[in-house]
Amino acid sequence: MKWEGLIKQYKEFLPVTENTPELSLMEGNTPLIPLHNLSKKLDIDLHVKTEGTNPTGSFKDRGMVMAVAKAKEEGSSTIICASTGNTSAAAAAYAARAGMRAIIVIPEGKIAMGKLAQAMMYGAEIVSIEGNFDDALKMVRNISEHSPITLVNSVNPYRIEGQKTAAFEICDQLGKAPDVLAIPVGNAGNITAYWKGFKEYNEKFGTGLPKMHGFEAEGAAAIVKNMVIEQPETVATAIRIGNPASWDKAVAARDESGGKIDLVTDEEILAAFELITKEEGIFAEPASCASIAGIIKQRKSGEIPAGATVAAVLTGNGLKDPQTAINQIAKKPVVLPNEEKAVFDFIEGVVRA
Ligand code: F0G
Repeated sequence: MKWEGLIKQYKEFLPVTENTPELSLMEGNTPLIPLHNLSKKLDIDLHVKTEGTNPTGSFKDRGMVMAVAKAKEEGSSTIICASTGNTSAAAAAYAARAGMRAIIVIPEGKIAMGKLAQAMMYGAEIVSIEGNFDDALKMVRNISEHSPITLVNSVNPYRIEGQKTAAFEICDQLGKAPDVLAIPVGNAGNITAYWKGFKEYNEKFGTGLPKMHGFEAEGAAAIVKNMVIEQPETVATAIRIGNPASWDKAVAARDESGGKIDLVTDEEILAAFELITKEEGIFAEPASCASIAGIIKQRKSGEIPAGATVAAVLTGNGLKDPQTAINQIAKKPVVLPNEEKAVFDFIEGVVRA
C-alpha cells in the first residue's frame, strides 16, 4: 500500500473538507518494534511505537500537519506556539511547507540542541524567554486571542485529531489494542489524543481499549501530585511542564481506561534511556524513555501484570538531544595517534577482553 501521509490516509476520521489543503511531509506510518530482550527480562510482550521516525523526529508532526492545514484552510498566514522544542520544530517545518510564517516562544537554555537547530533552519521567528514552558504558553494563548495569529499548541483541537492516528496504527500493527499503553506526559495532549484514537477505532472496528499508563517526570509531576509545579525541573526537558493544559483530559483518560498516571525519577529515565539504546538498538530522547522507565517501575510493583501486551510510545528521536546522550555515557571515544600500530594494539585489547 502506498503511504500518502496522515490527512489522506485517515481522512474519514479527521475534520477534512474539500477545502482542506493537501499538506504532508509523509508523516505517520511509524514502526511498532518488538523489544525482544526487554520483553524477556520483564516477562511481558513489549513493543515501542517509534515516533522519532516522523519527518521532524517526533510525534508532533501528526498533530501539526492537521493544525497547519486547517489554519491555512481558514485563511491564516501565521502560526504561533510555545514549546519545549519538538512542537516548535514541527510547527516551523509545516509552516515552511505550507508557505506560512511560524513564531515560536521557548524557554531560554532549556531546549535540546537538535530541536533549536531545526526551528532555526526551517526559518521560524524564535523568541527565547527567561521563563519556562508554562509561562510561554500563557503568553501565546493571550496573543493568539487578540490577533489573527493561529495557536498550534495542543489546546488547538486539530492537534489532538492528528495525534490520535498513532493509536489507529498501533491497533493495526498489533491486530488489536494493547493491554497497556505507556506514554510520557508533559502538557498532556498526547495521552488525550491516544485515548480518543483508541475509543474511535474500537467503536468502528472493535479493536478493544488499553489501560492508559502515563508517566510524568518527578520534578514536573503536577498531575500525580495534584498541584501546579511552579518551577518544574527534569533532565527530560521535553516534559519540563508544571501546569499541563490538558490536565483534566489526561485524568479522564486515566479514569475511563482504568489506568494510572505515575511519576519516574530522572535517574530512572536516564537508566531506561541507556538500556533501550544498548540492549535494543533504539535511540529515543530522554522524555520518551519515561514510558520505558514507568513500565520497569510498574513491573516491579506488579501494577503491570506478567504476560501483558504493552505498547510504549517513544515520542522523539534520540538525535534531538545529543548533549544529554554524551553526558550519560562515561566511556568516551579513545583518542590515538595516526598510527596503525597504536590503533591495532588498542583493538586487539578490546577484542581480547
Ligand atoms: N515526549 C516528547 C519528546 C515531547 O516533546 C513532549 C511534549 C511529550 C513527550 C509530552 O507530550 O505534552 O502531549 O503530554 N513536548 C511539547 C513541545 C510540550 O513543546 O514540544 P504532551
